[in-house]
Amino acid sequence: MKLIVHQLLRHGAEVLEIRLRHPQGQVLPPWSAGAHLRLQLPVADGQWLERHYSLIGTEGAAEEYRIAVLLDPASRGGSRWIHQQLVSGQALDVEGPFDSFPLQAEQGRTVLVAGGIGITPMHAMAHALNNRGQPFELHYLARSEERLVLLDELRALPNARLHLHVGAKPPALDALLGPFSPGASLHACGPSPLLNGLREHSAGLGWPISSVHFESFGARTQQGDRPIRVHLAQSSMVVDVQPGTSILDALIAADAFVAYDCKRGECGQCHSRVLDGSPVHRDVCLNPAQRAEGLCICVGWASSESLTLDL
Ligand code: FES
Repeated sequence: MKLIVHQLLRHGAEVLEIRLRHPQGQVLPPWSAGAHLRLQLPVADGQWLERHYSLIGTEGAAEEYRIAVLLDPASRGGSRWIHQQLVSGQALDVEGPFDSFPLQAEQGRTVLVAGGIGITPMHAMAHALNNRGQPFELHYLARSEERLVLLDELRALPNARLHLHVGAKPPALDALLGPFSPGASLHACGPSPLLNGLREHSAGLGWPISSVHFESFGARTQQGDRPIRVHLAQSSMVVDVQPGTSILDALIAADAFVAYDCKRGECGQCHSRVLDGSPVHRDVCLNPAQRAEGLCICVGWASSESLTLDL
């Protein structure tokens, strides 16, 4: 559907909130906390980029959708285009909302953890829990106070116990999580090192995997990544992959048969057995045994020049 940029609001130097409305002012399809929109961005002549952004605010049917976009220094064009080119009144191609990260809180202790711009789905979950009358903890981590956004709205939620963790050093995750208690749930969104830390510490404290829910974000390409040659053992294909393109996308483009779902290292659907080479893991879903055997090719990379997959 086409939606119109109704308003652009700056939150600090790095985050831009976008409010989208129907061109004729119709009420928009309802959404649930944790849902995201898929935007098609016309970044250059004939070139489009697809980007996903979590909805913020109060779930349900409403006259506008709100998203908040961080200007990513490693941007391949999406967030930079939004911050520098998008103007009020512009029409955007929008798909969704998609329920990618549903809130699964019972009546027990409810813990939300947000790292940086990972506050966006947590902002929606905080509003949903608050409106249900359910008390919850929200731990919000940021490198500096200027990077904390949407704080006024969060502070206004009476059922929220807001904990701000500001600084380059992450908080002690054992203390933040505490031991598991029946009915407790953890939802977290942030960069993969934070989520990997939460996954390890929660397992060590007895949190069952069914009570732990993650959504990751962030540029998975890292400086220093080099091109890799991927050999597919079963189909005898060879695909060269450049940094900036995921192995999965390169294989899809080459018409290889691959399974996938989230494309964000969260679901494990794209886990592929590695027969040769040195994989670099950037997912947030695999356990050590799965990592020893294979790689999530939607986010993973290799430190070797080539990688042979059992595909
Ligand atoms: S597609 Fe979900 S982890 Fe790769």
